[in-house]
Amino acid sequence: MAFLSDALGRMKPSATIVVTQKARDLKAQGRDVISLSVGEPDFDTPENIKRAGIAAIERGETRYPPVSGIQPLREAIARKFKRENGLDYKPSQTIVGTGGKQILFNALMATINTGDEVVIPAPYWVSYPEMVALCGGTPVFAETRIEDNFKLQAAELDRVITPKTKWVILNSPSNPSGAAYSHDEMKALTDVLLRHPHVWVLTDDMYEHLVYGDFKFVTPAQVEPKLYDRTLTMNGVSKSYAMTGWRIGYAAGPEHLIKAMDTLQGQQTSGACTIAQWASVEALDGPQDHLKVFRKAFEERRDLVVSMLNQAQHLKCPTPEGAFYVYPSCAGAIGLKTPEGKVIGNDEDFVTALLESEGVAVVHGSAFGLGPNFRVSYATSTAVLEDACTRIQRFCASLR
Ligand SMILES: Cc1ncc(COP(=O)(O)O)c(C=O)c1O
Repeated sequence: MAFLSDALGRMKPSATIVVTQKARDLKAQGRDVISLSVGEPDFDTPENIKRAGIAAIERGETRYPPVSGIQPLREAIARKFKRENGLDYKPSQTIVGTGGKQILFNALMATINTGDEVVIPAPYWVSYPEMVALCGGTPVFAETRIEDNFKLQAAELDRVITPKTKWVILNSPSNPSGAAYSHDEMKALTDVLLRHPHVWVLTDDMYEHLVYGDFKFVTPAQVEPKLYDRTLTMNGVSKSYAMTGWRIGYAAGPEHLIKAMDTLQGQQTSGACTIAQWASVEALDGPQDHLKVFRKAFEERRDLVVSMLNQAQHLKCPTPEGAFYVYPSCAGAIGLKTPEGKVIGNDEDFVTALLESEGVAVVHGSAFGLGPNFRVSYATSTAVLEDACTRIQRFCASLR
């Protein structure tokens, strides 16, 4: 009898974690390595939020919280959706989890039966297909093209929906491409979804606040109110408030779905950390001034990285609207050789050779379901980014 479960056998480890660890190991051996593989802001949690966490400890907010979240946070979440997205949710329609990751996983776990299909546009965040597979569902990938800046087109969405489709996962701005949908681009997709009333929408809005220039963020239930009854709008404090370690994510949707997720969470982790929940009340209700600082820094870095990568031979890098990633194509390098004679057969070879010869860690696009590309996280200082992009340029120039 096998010791490990069949469910585990359906999953792969996260490629982003594997690359980050490889970079750490090389650094530990004394190599000069720059890691552009991490998925978190390099900023500290804003002071007012930290203080709210400390105050919660000092007030003794240290007991088991309700499974779905403390009432003040559920109220703050309802206010956030109204204020920022024009969406009316009662606190009872919200749920707080241990990171956005738990929310997504529980929504899928609470609804997927064997054979149910979940549409995932590629390139995708590495965890979506693995979560779907773990729940016994079948990930169905929708293709995007670099010419469309990796945004899903209506005809492709229509093509991949079948009678077995339970969910479509949308993620704007996207990890890994940074692409974000304008109102009209989102409307084209919600129009398709209106024609398929059995399909639910799981929208991952984690990077909502990290958009640049005059780009305006939208979320599906806001663009098409007729989808409200079959949309789970998921968000969290990890990226927008530099709170990745606090582990708070949340969602709002139809009450019967929220209740199902509550039942699941009640037998699993129960309520999320009380201290982090109180800090999140301050994050959502408190001043949002830090966002201007984050956005300005990220926008400058995005522009720097896009410009330097487009000056590298064999690379093509679109300018994304948001998040802190760019997703250049390395198609021009495929088939070339490194000075050591190694052939670059695919994007994984490209990133491996880049790490070995120049000590720059990035994640290959095939891990996100679309290549030959690679993901660069620019959540690091301008000086480090300049150094890293210079090394990438030198690596590309060395290929023959
Ligand atoms: C697109 C996307 N969704 C969800 C998450 C998970 O967020 P959290 O850290 O709150 O679990 C991440 C984190 O990398 C992400 O990039």
